[in-house]
Amino acid sequence: MKILSIESSCDETAAAVVEDGRKVLSSVIASQVEEHRLYGGVVPEIASRRHAESISSVVREALSEAGLTLDDIDALAVTFAPGLIGALLVGVNFAKGLSLATGKPLVPVHHLRSHIAANYITHPDLKPPFLCLVVSGGHSHIVMVEDYTKMRIIGATRDDAAGEAFDKAARTMGMPYPGGIELDRVAEDGDPNAYTLPHPTVADAPYDFSFSGLKTAVINLIHNAQQKGETLCKEDLCASFRRAVVECLTDNLFRAAEELGVSTIVAAGGVSANRLLRRELERICKEKGLKLYVPDVSLCGDNAAMVGSQGYYEFLDKNIASTDLNAVATLPIDYR
Ligand code: KG4
Ligand code: ZN
Repeated sequence: MKILSIESSCDETAAAVVEDGRKVLSSVIASQVEEHRLYGGVVPEIASRRHAESISSVVREALSEAGLTLDDIDALAVTFAPGLIGALLVGVNFAKGLSLATGKPLVPVHHLRSHIAANYITHPDLKPPFLCLVVSGGHSHIVMVEDYTKMRIIGATRDDAAGEAFDKAARTMGMPYPGGIELDRVAEDGDPNAYTLPHPTVADAPYDFSFSGLKTAVINLIHNAQQKGETLCKEDLCASFRRAVVECLTDNLFRAAEELGVSTIVAAGGVSANRLLRRELERICKEKGLKLYVPDVSLCGDNAAMVGSQGYYEFLDKNIASTDLNAVATLPIDYR
């Protein structure tokens, strides 16, 4: 079964053709990141406008890269939630138009579920159940993936997402948006023990995260040094901050893994590209005898191939949109 999938939840306009949920026949991504960088973050109005401008050509390119026409496509899939409402609406309305014009079924896909599905593309042998750490710019979750379309939230962030914390800390250090990637690169040359940073936990919620205190601590450290005319070592600061975030993530994840008695761990979302997180997951899983799956780095960020993959499993579960499908800005991963 061939699915034509569309993603427009944030600042990437993407389309792909995926066969049977696992084989990527084409994947096209038009990134707007250069333009948003000028403003230090995503400007929703600009994002919607750029999606509207490029969606037709991105979809056309995905079909031609796969050597297919719309006639060869069996179903359409689109990210409908969560994300920037104006950005989502561009993809949802385009997909609805295509579905109406061709009579092909339209599958609504939850963005975080699609991040998890990036692993089905990278690892043909991976099947639920597994425990997944979903870490992106907007979300940080520990999710029990009982089946392809059945999720249970074990833990979530109470404030900032991990990616957001990385980006805000990086911004204070003068790095361009999205700073998480650059912070990770600079941290490779630093000493993770150089600066003492808090390790926030949430009382009575051992699997929940809280990153805002950690973010504020690093921002205060930088501002205090600036006021005193002291210079901080950027590499050491990046390494110390990265270590603190990664420890919060792995501590809660493996506490949950033990409690739930799972044998397979999966990581997903933009932050799963983080070098230290990947190394630590590998080290701890090896130590505990757990199986680990992480997405190929090229599939960690937003793309439409992962939407086509999850779309296939949603289709099998009869999750088909009616003509009144709407975009939704906020929606839990276990909505259905
Ligand atoms: O999943 P994603 O592409 O978009 C959302 O759905 O939010 O995640 C983007 C986030 C950004 O905050 C970005 O800074 C972060 O992922 N990110 C990283 C790395 N690569 C991307 N954070 C830390 N280390 C990285 N290597
Ligand atoms: Zn994402």
